[in-house]
Amino acid sequence: MDNSEEIVFKSPKQSSQQNIENDIRLFRDTLGQFCTGVVAITSIDNNGFKIGITVNSFSSLSLSPPLILWSLSEKSESFQNFLYGDRFIVNILAREQETIASKFSISGKNKFNGIETKLSESKVPIINGCMAYLECEVYNRVTGGDHDIIVGEVKKFSSNKKSPLIFFNGKYGSIN
Ligand SMILES: Cc1cc2nc3c(=O)[nH]c(=O)nc-3n(C[C@H](O)[C@H](O)[C@H](O)COP(=O)(O)O)c2cc1C
Repeated sequence: MDNSEEIVFKSPKQSSQQNIENDIRLFRDTLGQFCTGVVAITSIDNNGFKIGITVNSFSSLSLSPPLILWSLSEKSESFQNFLYGDRFIVNILAREQETIASKFSISGKNKFNGIETKLSESKVPIINGCMAYLECEVYNRVTGGDHDIIVGEVKKFSSNKKSPLIFFNGKYGSIN
């Protein structure tokens, strides 16, 4: 590589709290160099309320069976949801849906105010105007550090030709 600094993670015993936090920030910044799309995961909680979260850890996993995955932070208010067998929708966001990504990336109630949705047959909200959606059932859930990996089995999907919303270096953008 060029003359950029190389960071070596040290064990917590060898490092001060400030150095640990600094390394984590640099790690996050480096991960942010990987350009991704943006999805909104939507579902229904135990009380029947709509829940939604902005995610860029979404990835394809398997074609047969059709599996996808994403990771959920243990700090998320939705962490107790997405259990085995639960249904959720992966809404792949289009260029003009940045406000939805912003809304769903802030914890709190009323995330769905002003957002048009329709309900799938299994009563899970699908966001109108997305590039694509995948209706999934939780197939597996595995802990990975401070996140859980949620594996979804795709039961239904649909897609439109649109330009995607993308996320790179902490900012939203798009490509044609
Ligand atoms: C572009 C972007 C991508 C994100 N990706 C993830 C992710 O993959 N997993 C995650 O748990 N949080 C992710 N977040 C953070 C959540 O959207 C955010 O913490 C949200 O407030 C969680 O809402 P909740 O606490 O209501 O569940 C992302 C945020 C942004 C802006």
